[in-house]
Amino acid sequence: MSATEPDFYRYHYLYGRHRLEDFLYGSDAPWPQPAPDHPTGQMAQVLHVPRAEMREWKRQVAWKYIFLLLTRWPAGAWYAWRHPHQRALDDEAFSRYLGEGLYSKFLCPLDPEDEAVFAGQLGGAGPDTVFYKSDFSPMAELAGETYPGTHVTPTVVLLRRDGDGPARAVAIHLLDSGVVVTPEDGNRHGWNLARYFALQGAAHRINLIDHAVVHFPSDPINAVTKTLLPKSHPLLKLLLPHFRLSLPVNNSVLEGAESLINRTRWVIYSPFTAPGRIIRRLLPWGYVGRPGNSAYPPYRFRSQPRFPPSLYGEFQAAYHQTIRRYVGAFLAPVRAAPPGSDVPSLVSLWADHVAAWVPGFPDGEAIWAEEVLEDTVATIIWNVSVAHAADHETLHRMPSDEIPFRLRVPPPEGPDAPAPDASRLNRRFDIFQAWLTDMLFYEPHNHSLLQDVDYGFEAPALQRENEAFRQALRQTEARLRDQGRVPIFAPLERIAASIQY
Ligand SMILES: [Fe+2]
Repeated sequence: MSATEPDFYRYHYLYGRHRLEDFLYGSDAPWPQPAPDHPTGQMAQVLHVPRAEMREWKRQVAWKYIFLLLTRWPAGAWYAWRHPHQRALDDEAFSRYLGEGLYSKFLCPLDPEDEAVFAGQLGGAGPDTVFYKSDFSPMAELAGETYPGTHVTPTVVLLRRDGDGPARAVAIHLLDSGVVVTPEDGNRHGWNLARYFALQGAAHRINLIDHAVVHFPSDPINAVTKTLLPKSHPLLKLLLPHFRLSLPVNNSVLEGAESLINRTRWVIYSPFTAPGRIIRRLLPWGYVGRPGNSAYPPYRFRSQPRFPPSLYGEFQAAYHQTIRRYVGAFLAPVRAAPPGSDVPSLVSLWADHVAAWVPGFPDGEAIWAEEVLEDTVATIIWNVSVAHAADHETLHRMPSDEIPFRLRVPPPEGPDAPAPDASRLNRRFDIFQAWLTDMLFYEPHNHSLLQDVDYGFEAPALQRENEAFRQALRQTEARLRDQGRVPIFAPLERIAASIQY
C-alpha cells in the first residue's frame, strides 16, 4: 500500500465503499490520544469511550464493585483482625516469589553497574550458572512523599540460578546507602528487613509498571480496530470478543473518580504507600523506560513476545503457542480475500494507525511479511486473555499480609541492623486495605471466558476451527496438569477472554 492510500481509506465510507452504519459505533467511535499526564511519557489513552461500552461497564462491573465493597468489607476486617501484622518471610519464599511466579517477569540481565556492585557475589559460577536482577529502583520516585509514618527505599535484588534449579535471591543492593546485604551477613537483620523493602517494590512495580504494560497498550489497538474496520471485517470479528469491557476498565483505572490512583482522591481500597498523584510517577517507567537500565527498556510491542525465564514464562508460552496455532486458520479469509475486496487494504490501514500509537507495532507494510499478521494477532489475543488473567490469579493468591505495600519502619542502614519488630512493620489497617484491593481488583471477576469464545464465524469450516480452538485450550491445560512440572498459574475456567478487571 502506498503512503497516500491510507488517507483515502480513512474517509472510505464518504467515498461510498462503506457507510457509517457499517461500523460498530458510527459517530460515537473511540480513538487513541496522548495521555493527559505525560503526552510523550505514557502510552496513548482512549479518553472517549463509546457510550454503549460505558453503559455495559457500569451495569456489569461498577455495580458489582459497589456491591462487593458494601457486603464483603466485614470479611476483610475479620481477616485483618486475625492477621494484624506482616507475615514472617523466609528466604525460600522470598526467592520463590521473585524467581518463579508472577514477579519472575522482573528477571533481567545485570548491567555493568550491577556487576560492579555485586562483584563479591558473582564468583563461583559454573558453566550453567545464570545471574539475574530484579530491579526496584523506581521506588526512589516516591521517597519523601509517602503517607506519614511509611517508608520506601529503592533496591535491586541479585538472583542466581544453577542449571535447572530454582532461582535464589543472593544479595540485595540498597541503592540509597549503596550497601549490599546478603543472607550470610552477621545477624541477618539487615537482609531480613531489606527483603520486605524489595517485595514492597515488587508490589508497586507489578501494579504500576509491568501489569500496566499488559493493560494499556491494548487500548489504542482496541479503539483503532473498532473504529476503522467495518462490522463485517474478519479481523474485527476475531478481535471483538477480546476487547469486551476493556476500554471502560482502562479508562476507569486511569481517569475514574473512584480509581486507586485517582490524582486527588483518597479511597479506602487503595493499598499503596503514597497518594495516587505520587504513585502515578511509576507509570512512565513502563513506557519510556530508563536508559542504561536493562530492567526498564522503552515499551515496544512484540509480535513474538519474550516470556520470563521461569515456570511462569513456560505457562504463558504454552497458551501462546495454542492461540498462535489457530489464529492462522481464523485469518485465512484475510489472506484469501478475493480480488477487489478491501479486506487486506483495511488491514494495512489498521496496522498503520495502530503503529502510529503503539511503538513497535508492525505498520501497513510490515504486517504482510511472512507470518507477521498471524503472530501479531495471536499476541494481542494472548496478552489480553492468558497473560492478563494469570497476572491477576497470582496476585490474588498472594495473601494480603505476605506482600507489604506499606512499611512503617525505616530501611536497614547496613547488614547488622537491629532486629526488625514484626509487629511494627505495618498496621492492621494496611492489611485491611490490601485485602480490599485484592477482593475488588485482583481476584478475577469474569464476564466472558476464553474457553467459551465464539467468534460468530459464518463459514462452517471456520466454525469448526473455532470449536477446535476451544478444545485445544482445554487440551493445553490437561497437558500441563499431566506433565505436572509447570504449575497452573491460572485455571482455564478463570481466564477471561478480555481485560475485564
Ligand atoms: Fe488487570
